[in-house]
This record gives sequence, C-alpha cells and structure tokens, in this order.
Amino acid sequence: MSLLIKNGRVVTADADFTADIFVVDETIQMIGRNLNVQADTEIDATGKLVFPGGIDPHVHLDMPFMGTFSSDNYETGTRAALFGGTTMVIDFILQKQGNSLQSALDEWRSRSDNNCVGDYSFHMAVTDFNDNTRTEIQKMIEQEGITSFKTFMAYKGALMIDDRQMIGLMEEVKKYGGLINVHATNGDMIDYLVAKHRAEKKLSPLYHYLSQPEITEAEASERFADMTYYTGCPGYIVHLTCEGALNAVRNATRRNQKVFVETCIQYLILDASLYEKDFEGAKWVMSPPLRQPKDQATLWAGINQGLVQVVATDHCPFKWEQKLTGKEDFSKIPNGHPAIENRMELLYSEGVHKGKISLNKYVEVACANPAKIFGMFPRKGTLAPGSDADIVIFDPNEAHTLSVNSHHMNVDYSAYEGWPINGKVKTVILRGQIAIDKGKCLVNKGYGQFIKRNKVEGKI
Ligand code: URP
Ligand code: ZN
Ligand code: ZN
Ligand code: ZN
Repeated sequence: MSLLIKNGRVVTADADFTADIFVVDETIQMIGRNLNVQADTEIDATGKLVFPGGIDPHVHLDMPFMGTFSSDNYETGTRAALFGGTTMVIDFILQKQGNSLQSALDEWRSRSDNNCVGDYSFHMAVTDFNDNTRTEIQKMIEQEGITSFKTFMAYKGALMIDDRQMIGLMEEVKKYGGLINVHATNGDMIDYLVAKHRAEKKLSPLYHYLSQPEITEAEASERFADMTYYTGCPGYIVHLTCEGALNAVRNATRRNQKVFVETCIQYLILDASLYEKDFEGAKWVMSPPLRQPKDQATLWAGINQGLVQVVATDHCPFKWEQKLTGKEDFSKIPNGHPAIENRMELLYSEGVHKGKISLNKYVEVACANPAKIFGMFPRKGTLAPGSDADIVIFDPNEAHTLSVNSHHMNVDYSAYEGWPINGKVKTVILRGQIAIDKGKCLVNKGYGQFIKRNKVEGKI
C-alpha cells in the first residue's frame, strides 16, 4: 500500500516548505518536490498545511473518577481525537491504593486493548508508593514501555501522595531513566478551603474556583521543582494554569534546573468568569480551575519563552447528568471537561491565526514536544523518512464553529459551543491509513495500537 500527498505546505517544528510526501505501508518513505513515484492513492494538498498528527499527552478515557466514569471510552475518545487531528493520546492508569501497578495496568489494558481507533499509551499514576511498588518501576519502564509516572499532590484522601512517597518514587524513577508527571496543587490547602466553603453553605461552582486559588498551585509547583532538584529526577508539571506556578518554574531555571511544563488549551482561552453562570459553570469545573486573563497572557508568553513545552487538553468529559451530581454541592461535580477533538483547531485558530504563536511553535507544542518528552520521537511528532505516517492535512482558510451538534465526543454539550474557528482538519492519516476524510472516520476500533515508549531521561 502506498500513498502520495502532493504539493502541500509541509510544516514540522523546525521546517516549512512545499513538497510531496510518499508513504509506503505505515511509514513515510520520502519527502521532496515533484516526487516521481507511482502510488496506489494520491491526495492533492495544494493550498493546505500538512503537519504531523497531533499528540495529546493528557487524556482520561473511561476513567473511574469521583464515583463515575469519564464518558468517552477508548473507542469514542480516540475516534473524536482523530476527527480533530490528534492521532495519538497518552491516557492515565490509576493504581488502586493497596494494589500493584501491574494489576492496574492489566485492568486498564483490558478496557483499552482492541478498542482504540487511534494510537495510545499510558502514564502510570502511582497513588501508593511502598516497598512493593518500588520493585515494579523498572519493569514498567523496561518491559512495558511505560516510562512516565503520574503523581497527585491533591485529591486528598483519594489519589494524593505525600512528599515522602514522592521523593522515594523520584529516586526510583530516576534510576531507570523515567520521568515524573505531577498534578501540582496543595491538597491540604484545597481540602481546608472546600470544607470551609461547604460549612458556610457556599456550594455553587464558583466555590470550586475559590477553593483552589493560584497560591495552591504556585506553592505545590515550587515544592515539586524543589523535590526534583534535590533528587535529580526529570519532572513534568501537567495542566499548569497560572502566573504564580509558571514563576516557580522560571525561578528554578535560575539554578540551572529544567522542569517541563504542560498547559491545556482551556487555560489559554477561557477564564474564571464562566463560574459566575450559576450551575452552568459546572461545565468548566476542572482541577485546577480556569484562571484570569493575566494568567492567559503568562501562558502564551511562556510558550514563546520556551518555558511551556506542551499544550494538551486534560480531556475528562462527563455528561450533563453526571455533572448534576454536584447540583447542591460543588465538591461533588465530577472534575473535567471535553476537548480532545477541539485542541488542534482551537490552538491553530487562537494561536497561529491570531498571531500569538508561529506555525512551527504550533507543531512543536502540539506534536513534536509531546513525542520528544515522552520517548516517541522521531517515530511520532514529525514528518521525516522513517517516521510513522501520522499526517494531518489542514485547510487554514476554512472557517467553521464548534458545536455539540457536530462533535464526535460522547458528551451532550460542548465546552466551546458556537466558538468560531479559522482552519479545519480535512484529512487525517494514521500509520499510512486514511483515517479521517470528508467528515467520515474510515478506520475501525482495534486499529489504534499501544505504543511502547523509550526512556528519555529528561533530555529533549
Ligand atoms: O479536572 C480534572 N483535571 N480532571 C481530571 C483529573 C486530573 O486532575 O487531571
Ligand atoms: Zn490533574
Ligand atoms: Zn523552593
Ligand atoms: Zn488530568
């Protein structure tokens, strides 16, 4: 099977030129001008952008959380991702306290294997680090290809670990060349504020926001940076939202430290005024919460300063009926919002089209850096001979609006209803197969593969 994509504007993290791309089976074979080759299928990409498949390294599919499951499963979630130009996701396994990492991996793979439409991998969330867990880290990295470990400094009484466990885990992960991801907010402060607001009968979604002020994230981000500095373990802060937290990372650079930072599309373009809409604000109840316009400005600048390396989604959708569990108490609203399908178009439209980031930076934060940081580059995240043929053909001139009526995520509202977009994903190729074309998905569940990842030891 061969495929020729002709005359597109080929964009990677560090190149931008007009060329043809020749794909044989699952792999890019050649890139060049006017390639003189015969292909089984030809696509004319004149006037279109051609960039690597998006990689969303922060999604939660079919995840047990706050008494329910996130509403996209591996099939609906990875298919919606493909529609939006994301060919690979990294999802989170949650260890159950008292149980092994291996049993959690088995459980997650039983839900995901043979069900994904797009490619996938996992981070392993360690919620109970003890002498048994310690012995499993090497195997996860070297045999299972799971090279990143997630920790929660919040969700006290559920997923949170303490600093003693964090340091122990960091020392073990460093030994074998892995990376620690962190949800960096101060769980004790948040727990205190939630209890205080509930006692005062302040129960609307606004109090979710007011229970997680910026300082809770700034403090934990600094503490995490300090612990990675002390242990030498590579660290990656997920869903960083605000100026205070980014300044903690900025300060760490002054002692020659590197901490990777991910933000999510919602923190770049939405703000906390949405929590003033009474219960409708539950659509955007997520942790950390949306912040202020000054934080958006900090995050856009952080991308251009190279302090923020990745733009993900933290896709964790819940249907309205699930959100209603918290109608009388914000602390019972399942946390998370749907965005897996919208990230690439929103970031293009709000970032590139509006002149906030360059086209190369777009590919860097949405495709290349996730692949580099998480041990998949250059197989994923770029367009080059030998790379997987994960390719997006994108019309930069087509305008449309986002809506629940046209999205493919399994959730009955859009967090971006009516949002105007400049630029549209037209065709998506996953490992050489045309996966999305003319608004249709052409590959089935089971096509998506589990991708084993390499060690990167914090160097990209
Ligand atoms: O609100 C969120 N972010 N839900 C998913 C779990 C997490 O903290 O990432
Ligand atoms: Zn989180
Ligand atoms: Zn410090
Ligand atoms: Zn998350």
